[in-house]
Amino acid sequence: MSEKLDRARAYEEEKRTQTPEGSKCVFHLTPAVGWINDPNGFSRYQGEYHLFYQYHPYSTVWGPMHWGHQKTRDFIKWEHLPCALAPDTGYDGQGCFSGSAVEHEGKHILMYTGVLDRMEDDGRHTLRQTQCIAVGDGINYEKLPENPVITAQALPEGSSKEDFRDPRIWKEGDTFYAVAGSLGADGSGQIALFSSADAGKWRFESILDANGGRYGKMWECPDFFPLEDSQILIVSPQFMHAEGLEFHNGNNAIYFVGSYDREKKKFLRKEARSVDYGLDFYAPQTVETADGRRVMTGWLQSWDNYLTPEEFPWSGIMSIPRELELRDDRLIQNPVRELERYRQNEVSHKGVTLSEKAGKTELEGVRGRVLDMTVEADVSRSDALTLHLAAGEGFETTLSYEKGKGTLTTDRTYSGLKKDLLCTRSMYVDANEGKLKLRLLMDKYTLEVFVNDGEQAMSSVIFTPPEAEGIAFSCKGESSLDLVMYEIMV
Ligand code: FRU
Repeated sequence: MSEKLDRARAYEEEKRTQTPEGSKCVFHLTPAVGWINDPNGFSRYQGEYHLFYQYHPYSTVWGPMHWGHQKTRDFIKWEHLPCALAPDTGYDGQGCFSGSAVEHEGKHILMYTGVLDRMEDDGRHTLRQTQCIAVGDGINYEKLPENPVITAQALPEGSSKEDFRDPRIWKEGDTFYAVAGSLGADGSGQIALFSSADAGKWRFESILDANGGRYGKMWECPDFFPLEDSQILIVSPQFMHAEGLEFHNGNNAIYFVGSYDREKKKFLRKEARSVDYGLDFYAPQTVETADGRRVMTGWLQSWDNYLTPEEFPWSGIMSIPRELELRDDRLIQNPVRELERYRQNEVSHKGVTLSEKAGKTELEGVRGRVLDMTVEADVSRSDALTLHLAAGEGFETTLSYEKGKGTLTTDRTYSGLKKDLLCTRSMYVDANEGKLKLRLLMDKYTLEVFVNDGEQAMSSVIFTPPEAEGIAFSCKGESSLDLVMYEIMV
């Protein structure tokens, strides 16, 4: 083991015990210490699900990237494992960037981006991103002596050597495939496809898709997989421009439903959509479960919004893993069904009437910050309906439906922020015949909303003190609702 990996493992082990369990989320993956971003290597290995992530153990801000590691059997209870990769070689000395994993003949194969970033003696700056392999047993991983296994030289003429990253590996029959993001000769984003017989020697196959300057520039963290009768490409573009309420500025996570022309090795896509309409969701990655479900998790953060309170020993939360389906060419997302096993203390209310006159209405037993709550509202006679969440002592985060605009808005202005950061985001929702169904998951610092049985998701983080656990409802006009809420106990 290298000195750098040794040091990271010793450091996280020492610090881990100092982080009180209660200071983390209950059913969302968080690190015990340090910074995390992108999920990496989400894979099934020897009957368990492994999730790695971009990791800087030594501080709560981004730094030279390691791979942190946890595993689970049910996507809810996570077990910490020692740091898997450290930036400890010539080709990845400045970072082991994002990548993926696959099981092969009893081994766990990781594919990641090595970053070499140095000032030469003559003052020139060398920056290279290359693709690398490490092979392991679920705990310890050895980097291949042949690394890097793919360099930008394999790409079409004029492609960037500096922006070439985030390989997504999979196996089809005896062949390994991988897609990675890169910048083409015209400076716009492209997805390169490679194949290999042994995961060591790789061959360039094609440019699977290229964005021609539409939907941002570099497409980071591609994922490419079949779902029902279609093929899905998920990418996380940088430098997007806002478009209506569909896309916001900066880093988005978007998906295309399409088909895969295996002869030509091209992806034929339909229109793009947002994966998640909240304030914080990026770089999602999927895994196929033993029973054939496609499950996705993303990083609950936006690069331009850093909200972690100064006193926290950790920064970064992964979303609840979500089961994916297709309905009318739309990605449907619902929390993994395993979550239901952890529901406790059911509270339900039927036929609650809300009126403008009555003001804010609280419901017996409805409060908390670690919960799974479904609200089915009849909004046919109301102009607006607001859920007041994480409320108390001047704090609240709201979720508001406005009939005139047809929107649902998350607003965390009063969540206790000390900085002037982005606080609201809206999306169009369908209130079919006046009915709106919202499933909310809260886990201390997270708010994930699933609309109309997974038609849309809206995820944001809030760092309101966990004692602010009030929940209330208000409306303009009149509305009625049924509600069922559970505490989640792990
Ligand atoms: C996406 C990303 C990846 C890169 C990693 C570095 O959030 O920028 O493209 O591999 O983060 O931490």
